[in-house]
Amino acid sequence: MTDSSYSGGTGESATVRRLLMLLDRNERRWPAPIEHHRRIDSTNRRLKEWSRAGAPDRAVVIADEQTAGAGRRGRVWFSPPGNVYLSLLLRGDWAAERPFLVPLTGGVAVARALTQLGLRPRLKWPNDVLVGDRKIAGLLAESVMSPRGLDSIVLGAGVNVRLAPDFDSSSSIDRATTLRDEAGVVHDRLDVAATVLARMAECYDALARNESEEMLMEWRRFSVHWWGRLVEAYTGEKRVVGVMEDLGEQGELILRLQNGSMRKLYADEARRLRISAEDGR
Ligand code: BTN
Repeated sequence: MTDSSYSGGTGESATVRRLLMLLDRNERRWPAPIEHHRRIDSTNRRLKEWSRAGAPDRAVVIADEQTAGAGRRGRVWFSPPGNVYLSLLLRGDWAAERPFLVPLTGGVAVARALTQLGLRPRLKWPNDVLVGDRKIAGLLAESVMSPRGLDSIVLGAGVNVRLAPDFDSSSSIDRATTLRDEAGVVHDRLDVAATVLARMAECYDALARNESEEMLMEWRRFSVHWWGRLVEAYTGEKRVVGVMEDLGEQGELILRLQNGSMRKLYADEARRLRISAEDGR
């Protein structure tokens, strides 16, 4: 059993009330219910379930701790008490038309939030948030399908506020960091959550207004400075090596291969992006 407190208006938990107050301070009157759990398996899993039961656009699930936090590519996301774990529901035609842009836009939102909190975050394609070469946050977008097609997208974000996991050797980033390590102060977890949610609302409003090119431009500005460098990634067992040229309009990474042709890499096929050992610089 999870210890949960649901908020849909009256009878809000103290945590939800505080989060709503902090969102107000971030100039965001939150338009949908927020559900808070002290302990849950995964906020993404719970929000997908709630979405199928009719949760509205911008519904949020937030937890103090996750027992089975989901990471990309089936990995587990280390989720002890002390960090931020939240999921946001996105509905609307724009999400169905441009689902690939959802995780990248989430990265821009988290990068904006961390900048506001005094850090200099960088984005590593497709959706790692780094400070220096260490991972501080991760994003996981999952689709909820209906017989008519895509019903909604659940965007989950984990931000290391106080505790950093050890990554396993299958990850291309083997070092993690936290807001405490980088900013030298222990930020209030709910304050971080409110800042992230407010920036997400801002960025997804921009996507809904068709400002996807602006979001992609901002993603490029926050990106690690690997443009023009030789990188490698794996698609299945196949190693792909090429010069990192640009981001396509669907958020795909465009590589120039050694034979001069262009190769588009999509987030769901590629893993372990890193600078190649053959890179001259
Ligand atoms: C990654 O592997 O980099 C993505 C990690 C995403 C973790 C977050 S924590 C909140 C939300 N709920 C989950 O189960 N996963 C995401």
